[in-house]
Amino acid sequence: MRIPIVAGNWKMNKTVEEARSLAFELSRKLREIEGVEKVLCPPFPALLAVSALLQGTDIGLGAQNLHWEEKGAFTGEVAPNMVAEFCKYVIIGHSERRAYFGETDETVNKKVRAALVHDLTPIICVGESLDENESGRTGEVVRRQISLGLADVNPAKAAGLVIAYEPVWAIGTGRASSGENANAVLADHIRPALADLFGAETAQAIRIQYGGSVTGANAVEFFGQPEIDGALVGGASLKVDDFVAITQAAAK
Ligand code: 13P
Repeated sequence: MRIPIVAGNWKMNKTVEEARSLAFELSRKLREIEGVEKVLCPPFPALLAVSALLQGTDIGLGAQNLHWEEKGAFTGEVAPNMVAEFCKYVIIGHSERRAYFGETDETVNKKVRAALVHDLTPIICVGESLDENESGRTGEVVRRQISLGLADVNPAKAAGLVIAYEPVWAIGTGRASSGENANAVLADHIRPALADLFGAETAQAIRIQYGGSVTGANAVEFFGQPEIDGALVGGASLKVDDFVAITQAAAK
């Protein structure tokens, strides 16, 4: 059985002081919730402070990005071993990085493979744009993102991957997908694409989250679906009560 995983993507929000205070409030409430893997993904400058706060809890820490090279002249980038110093997880290929920072399926692939070398758990984001959705290309898009993004990934490590299905039109819009629609994309396209790469058994073990305007109010709808194994949460992860309610709804 797949253990659900709920991750908060704080995006470019919170100074170190603010992050410390949010993580403190969250950890007090989240630590009581069992049966779900819990992850906070603050911005880079806050990782050290938040990692100290989460010591001794069962709440994991994730970064929002990494570079695939080990070190060198890559101004402004953060190497996988630097992420692995503090984090167990790393978000890769978020649609905002694809849209604003030129990330492609190829760079996503390099990042995923680099993360695995350092035993990080990558949370790989896929999802179609509004235009792609309306023109009936959702399946084609997510299948391509999976097959190129995860090409040549070590099959022995594939079961530990986490996929986040985040339709771009649902991110930050307040217009979430329905549980049923999101589940259908996972069942018809994402898990079959994973099975093509790694075999049916491994594909069954890989956790797939839904992301896009998840709130404390609509979370139950997603977690009631058989294919959805948790959520990647943006805006609502900055609100203690909302994020706690989402996490509670995911707990099995
Ligand atoms: P929102 O929850 O704010 O829609 O963001 C989703 C997201 O992009 C998480 O990575």
